[in-house]
Amino acid sequence: MSSSATSDTGTSSGLAQIGVTGLAVMGSNIARNFARHGYTVAVHNRSVAKTDALIAEHGHEGRFIRTETIAEFVAALERPRRVLIMVKAGAPTDAVINELADAMEPGDIIIDGGNARYTDTIRREQALAERGLHFVGAGISGGEEGALNGPSIMPGGPKESYEALGPMLEAISAHVDGVPCCTHIGPDGAGHFVKMVHNGIEYSDMQLIGEAYQLLRDGLGLSAAQIADVFTEWNAGDLDSFLVEITAEVLRQVDAKTGKPLVDVIVDEAEQKGTGRWTVQSALDLGVPVTGIAEAVFSRALSGSVAQRRAAAGLTSGTLGQKPSDATKFTEDVRRALYASKIIAYAQGFNQIQAGSAEYGWNVKPGDLATIWRGGCIIRAKFLNRIKEAFDADPNLPTLIAAPYFRDAVEAGIDSWRRVVVTATELGIPVPGFASALSYYDALRTERLPAALIQGLRDYFGAHTYARIDAPREARFHTLWSGDRSEVSA
Ligand code: 6PG
Repeated sequence: MSSSATSDTGTSSGLAQIGVTGLAVMGSNIARNFARHGYTVAVHNRSVAKTDALIAEHGHEGRFIRTETIAEFVAALERPRRVLIMVKAGAPTDAVINELADAMEPGDIIIDGGNARYTDTIRREQALAERGLHFVGAGISGGEEGALNGPSIMPGGPKESYEALGPMLEAISAHVDGVPCCTHIGPDGAGHFVKMVHNGIEYSDMQLIGEAYQLLRDGLGLSAAQIADVFTEWNAGDLDSFLVEITAEVLRQVDAKTGKPLVDVIVDEAEQKGTGRWTVQSALDLGVPVTGIAEAVFSRALSGSVAQRRAAAGLTSGTLGQKPSDATKFTEDVRRALYASKIIAYAQGFNQIQAGSAEYGWNVKPGDLATIWRGGCIIRAKFLNRIKEAFDADPNLPTLIAAPYFRDAVEAGIDSWRRVVVTATELGIPVPGFASALSYYDALRTERLPAALIQGLRDYFGAHTYARIDAPREARFHTLWSGDRSEVSA
C-alpha cells in the first residue's frame, strides 16, 4: 500500500529510493524527512503498529511504501538498495543487519544511523564486505527535531557508497549558508568515531554549562529565572550555541505541579547511555588527554553515586570565602571562563579525532567536521565557523588554542578564568570542568612539567630509563641507583 503522494519526484518504477527500518521517533522522523524531500520511502518496523501509525499520521507528507516483512521491505527498494537502520545500538542492530543481509544482494547498502560503537562498525563493515554488501556507519545528531527538520550527518563507510547515498543524505541534512551539514567522513568506522567524539564534546559542554549555572546559583544566589536571562544574554555573543539557548529554556520552565522552577524538582543524578564513556575509553587507548570529557563523564557518575553523596553530606567545608560583591563582574567572569573552557573541550575533542584518524588511516578532515557541526547537531555553535577557519588555515593544527583567534580569545578570558576557579574553590563549589580545563591550558603552556621527576622515579624503582635534554631524543640513560649512582647508556 502506498500512501498519498504529494511529490512527483519519486521513481518511475514505483520502487522506493530509500528504506527506513526502526520507526521509533528518530527513525520515523528521518523517514518523514526523506519523504518531505520528495523521496519515496519504504518503511518497516518489527511491530507493524508503528508503521501504520506513521502512515496514518504522516502519510500525507510524501510517498511512503508500507511493508510488513523484511522480504517485502527489500523488494520495495530500487537497486542498489539503500536501507537505513534506526534501532538500538548493540545486539538489536546486529540482529537487523543479519536479517537484511540475508535478503539483500551484492552492491546494496546498509546504513546504521544509530549511536553504534565505532569498533562494532568496523567489524560489521568487514563482515558485510565479504558478502559483497556495503555498510555505512553514519553518525546522526540533532535529536528528534533534527531528524525531522535537518540533522548533522556523519557517514563513514566506502567512498563509493557515499556516491550513491551522499546526495540524499545531504538533501535531508541541515544547511548553513547553503552548505549541507553532511559529508563523507572517511572509511569504515570513521563516521561513528566522529559522532562518538561529538557526543563526548556534548558531555563536556553540558558539564561546563552546569558549572556556570551552579556558580551563579550558589555564588550569587540568583534564581533559575534570573540565570535563564543570563544565558539568553550570553547566547547573543561568543557563546551563541544550541546548548546555551536551550539552557535558558530549561531554566525558565516552571513545574505545573509545584509552581517551582522545573530544574529544582528534577533529581540531580545525570544519566548516560554511553557515548561519552566510549569517548574517554578510546582516548585512553589513543593516549589523548581529553580531560574535559573525562571530567564530564565522571561528574555524571559522581552525581549518581548516591551512597557516597549521602555519606559525605554535612562533611566540613572548612572556612569558606566571601561571596562575590560585584555580581555583574562575577557573571562576566563566569561567561569568559565558560568560553575559555569550552574552547579547551573542543581542542581536546579535535585532537582525539586527529589521533583516531591517524591510528586507523581515515584521513578525516577536521575543518570538514567544523563545517558540518555548524548546524543540525547538539553541539552546533557560532564559534564552529572560527574552528573551520583555523583548520582551513592549518589542516595539521596541533591544538586549537594555538590558532590566532582562539589564542586571543583565551588571552582575553584568562584572568576571569583564574578568578572563577579561585572563587569557586574558596566557596566550596565544585568546578571540575573549569578547573581541569584551566590546568590543561597551564600544563600545555608550561615549559618544564614535573614529568622529568616522574621519569627519574620510574628509573629509580624500575630501571625504566630516561632521555636527556642534552642528548638525541632516542638515546636512553639509566642511573645505577643502588650502585655508585653513576649514569650509564641503556
Ligand atoms: C545527538 C545526541 C544524541 C543523544 C545521545 C547522548 O547528537 O543527537 O548526542 O545522540 O542525546 O544519546 O545521550 P546520553 O547523554 O544519554 O549519553
